[in-house]
Amino acid sequence: MTRNSLNLTDNRNGNTYEIPIENESIRALDLRQIKLAPDDFGIMSYDPAYMNTAACASSITYIDGEKSILRYRGYPIEELAEKSSFLECAYLLIYGELPTAAALEHWTNRIMRHTYIHENLARIIESFRYDAHPMGILISTVAAMSTFHAEARNVGDPEVRERQIWRILGKLPTIAAFAYRVRIGRPNNYPDISRGYAANFLYMLDYMNEREYEVPPALSRALDVLFLLHADHEQNCSTATMRAVGSTRVDPYSAVAAAAAALFGPLHGGANEAVLRMLEEIGTASEVPKHVERVKKGEMRLMGFGHRVYTSYDPRATIIKKVAHDVFEVTGSNRLIDIALELERIALQDEYFISHKLYPNVDFYSGIILQAMRFPTDMFPVLFAIPRAAGWLAQWIEMLNDPLQKIARPRQIYTGYDVRPYLPIEQRASQPG
Ligand code: CMC
Repeated sequence: MTRNSLNLTDNRNGNTYEIPIENESIRALDLRQIKLAPDDFGIMSYDPAYMNTAACASSITYIDGEKSILRYRGYPIEELAEKSSFLECAYLLIYGELPTAAALEHWTNRIMRHTYIHENLARIIESFRYDAHPMGILISTVAAMSTFHAEARNVGDPEVRERQIWRILGKLPTIAAFAYRVRIGRPNNYPDISRGYAANFLYMLDYMNEREYEVPPALSRALDVLFLLHADHEQNCSTATMRAVGSTRVDPYSAVAAAAAALFGPLHGGANEAVLRMLEEIGTASEVPKHVERVKKGEMRLMGFGHRVYTSYDPRATIIKKVAHDVFEVTGSNRLIDIALELERIALQDEYFISHKLYPNVDFYSGIILQAMRFPTDMFPVLFAIPRAAGWLAQWIEMLNDPLQKIARPRQIYTGYDVRPYLPIEQRASQPG
């Protein structure tokens, strides 16, 4: 007879326990019944960096890292990249279904109507130093937005939540564009809502009073596809941060600022910036083998390679590689692409990368595209944060509506001293530092 459960025997006392299996998982709390004495705490699971722990059930994004599968709400990413748009995907992620034509028009309209930011917010952006990292500006400005929209604290009201979603998705590109313009000492361009989401963003970044100014459609489409590919990626570090911070019932601006801070790290959203610096350091395609050797000796990491969940090619990298060619048709080729292609070619046939299952991830080619579009390198994580906000917000809503979720509060295994008496200062041995 087969049963969907595990039998566990505690070899300390011979007791056995039947632990139910659901969705190929056991509940960590079921382990707590395993104890030697009634007042023991019970067994915990220990999982630094959440290598094998599901912290939620989610119906938003599906990834099969071995088979290179990524789907939003069941739709394959390849099909969405070809047929959909970022805003349509944002709707899909947040509401669970593709919008009707009327729903898409209303959604687009609501978001584009929320692209203007309060003048005081613009002044906050202006007050940063000329060399401030735009990600720092974005994080701080989004956090400051909570002070402009006090109603956002009412996270239990679905209508209030929806309004904040329009505001966040609408205003993020404006904040990013203003942060960019301030740093280059040019006046801000206010949003032009007659343009699409990506085209308006490029316009705000670029426009300098030219007559008959046009955003090249190939570039706005390429950016829209990049946005779409970055919109969600299930429980990555920044999304887990959004859920953890949001679980305190704080307003979504504060939670998005925290998620964006997580995204800023070089192992997460900062990786495309790091890829570009690495390619610059390599310099020419002929220098690639030398750097691959350095990676194998553990002297450096190959940025843009490897992923916690993909043990084969990241499907987003395949799509991005194609987008790169569309962009180069408009901007002209980029010498870094030759280095990247050579790096990929050598790495994919090298035993170290094969045995470690290291393949290019989404960031390997995105930086080269963004550089060809003349984005400064430090804007790259910002261009990741704008679309990922859609995923953060979808996951935030799912978390708030999940009756099993509570304030996120991991356990620890305490490894420090047992209780000891306070030591007067004159009796203390000298300490390092
Ligand atoms: N270059 C060389 N070796 C690597 C790399 C790499 N990029 N990534 C992992 N390894 C090796 C690592 O040295 C280790 O080897 P060993 O077992 O011999 O000690 C093994 O592979 C496992 O590495 P890990 O650090 O334990 O794996 P992880 O799952 O904790 O890390 C990662 C995932 C993405 C942080 C890591 O692969 C990495 O640092 N990659 C470079 C940064 C990067 O491209 N990040 C963007 C991720 S995609 C965007 C996103 O979703 O945020």
